Amino acid sequence: AYRSDDDYDYLFKVVLIGDSGVGKSNLLSRFTRNEFSLESKSTIGVEFATRSIRVEDKVVKAQIWDTAGQERFGRIIVPILANSWLRICNVVSLFVASKRYRAITSAYYRGAVGALLVYDVTRHITFENVERWLKELRDHTDSNIVIMLVGNKADLRHLRAVTVDDAKAFAERESTFFMETSALESMNVDDAFNEVLTQIY
Ligand code: GTP
Ligand code: MG
Repeated sequence: AYRSDDDYDYLFKVVLIGDSGVGKSNLLSRFTRNEFSLESKSTIGVEFATRSIRVEDKVVKAQIWDTAGQERFGRIIVPILANSWLRICNVVSLFVASKRYRAITSAYYRGAVGALLVYDVTRHITFENVERWLKELRDHTDSNIVIMLVGNKADLRHLRAVTVDDAKAFAERESTFFMETSALESMNVDDAFNEVLTQIY
């Protein structure tokens, strides 16, 4: 039977988080459009895409949010500092920017019932930063949010810097799910999203 795009039983908001360049946007484009780009630019602002999947006899529509993993505070504050014609205004600007940063952050997380926390298996620092992302996530969302730790770029085997064991141990300690993916090779991408959506359901 034909079902239109707006014919769904459940709508779940899922957020993508993690350091810049780990592959969040490509995971999203792979999952929602089966597209991958080798030269994708860092995300500006907030984007989202949807895809519906079937869970048991229901249609679950995922609304997946994506933003830049860069320190968002820095992105807001730097232009403000550069444009200030009075140095003294910087104090005020800092205050306003920090308020704005917090408003953007909470809007991004608001209503999220699932999250993919992504790191890059070839850059250890992105794995170390997972702890900070997890804290921000937990500070802004409901305690029963479904979290999937995702080690992306698993296709770059010769460049691996984070072991599966370390990531698994971390995920167990923090009670999150864990999967390694490759947006490039389409490995585990559907599985990672589907698992989150099924667990939410
Ligand atoms: P921000 O928007 O800055 O937070 O980055 P992002 O996390 O959205 O990263 P993005 O998807 O833009 O990918 C960054 C780079 O990594 C791009 O050059 C992608 O082509 C590459 N990339 C993403 N996923 C993979 C993957 O699975 N394997 C490989 N080899 N490269 C990948
Ligand atoms: Mg991006």
